[in-house]
Amino acid sequence: MKIVVIGGTGLIGSKLVQKLREQGHEAVAAAPNTGVNTLTGQGLAEALKGASVVVDVSNSPDWDDAAVLKFFETSTRNLLSYEAAAGVKHHVALSVVGTDRMSESGYMRAKLAQEKLIQQASIPYSIVHATQFFEFLKGLADISVVDGKVHLPHVLFQPMAADDVADALARVALGAPVNGMVEIAGPEQFRVDELVRRRLAALNDPREVVADPNARYGGAKISERTLVPGTNARVGKTQFETWLTQSAARAA
Ligand SMILES: NC(=O)c1ccc[n+]([C@@H]2O[C@H](COP(=O)([O-])OP(=O)(O)OC[C@H]3O[C@@H](n4cnc5c(N)ncnc54)[C@H](OP(=O)(O)O)[C@@H]3O)[C@@H](O)[C@H]2O)c1
Repeated sequence: MKIVVIGGTGLIGSKLVQKLREQGHEAVAAAPNTGVNTLTGQGLAEALKGASVVVDVSNSPDWDDAAVLKFFETSTRNLLSYEAAAGVKHHVALSVVGTDRMSESGYMRAKLAQEKLIQQASIPYSIVHATQFFEFLKGLADISVVDGKVHLPHVLFQPMAADDVADALARVALGAPVNGMVEIAGPEQFRVDELVRRRLAALNDPREVVADPNARYGGAKISERTLVPGTNARVGKTQFETWLTQSAARAA
């Protein structure tokens, strides 16, 4: 089966392309540096020729509110219209657990806009809502700095390894469209501030992490269960400590 992975050169996309190829599928990595740009439409018609499934794991290079909204709206509109013309039978997109609970965040509003366009289009779809990636913990610290310290709320958190995200996406892409959401998450629950503190310690990053009840998450006020999935989430296998050891070994 031909499966086009939009954002197939990124963190999740490159893992997904590899996993699909290992299972014998023709997986195409589509991204600006392979000649495919969903913002302009460049290379899309050619890349989608003969494709049964498209998985969109692209991300905006720029995260300010207006830029990210423009990215997800324009690229999703273009992609869906080229997919309709090419006869694509399943559109899979990666989004975030709790998007609808974090509409104070410009990034989450952009992801919601992406989801709405997919729901309104004619192509059968599956939207995968993932929790935060272990790989994103340092990035989360970086966007949560106030006066040199990392401010995060002491709320529940169930992040997962990028490898498990890619495994789950491969399963969804190879299955029938659900025309709805699938939630995926890690196997353990933590507190946001505690886990980011552990990640920074492992990186020898000296920044202090402050448990701050008023701290926002990417601009959104969040509460105890905002970031965690419902009871039907599909749970990945990689535990945080295992991932930490493996990523330290890779870095060495
Ligand atoms: N971070 C988290 O914890 C988290 C949690 C849940 C869901 N997600 C979602 O996961 C998705 C993937 O994240 P990621 O970390 O794997 O992203 P990433 O590593 O930043 O990769 C982004 C990909 O998008 C491609 N791209 C950028 N502009 C494009 C364009 N105009 N046309 C086509 N492709 C374009 C990039 O291509 P180039 O390399 O050529 O620029 C790259 O392949 C995002 O949609 C995000 O919302 C993230």
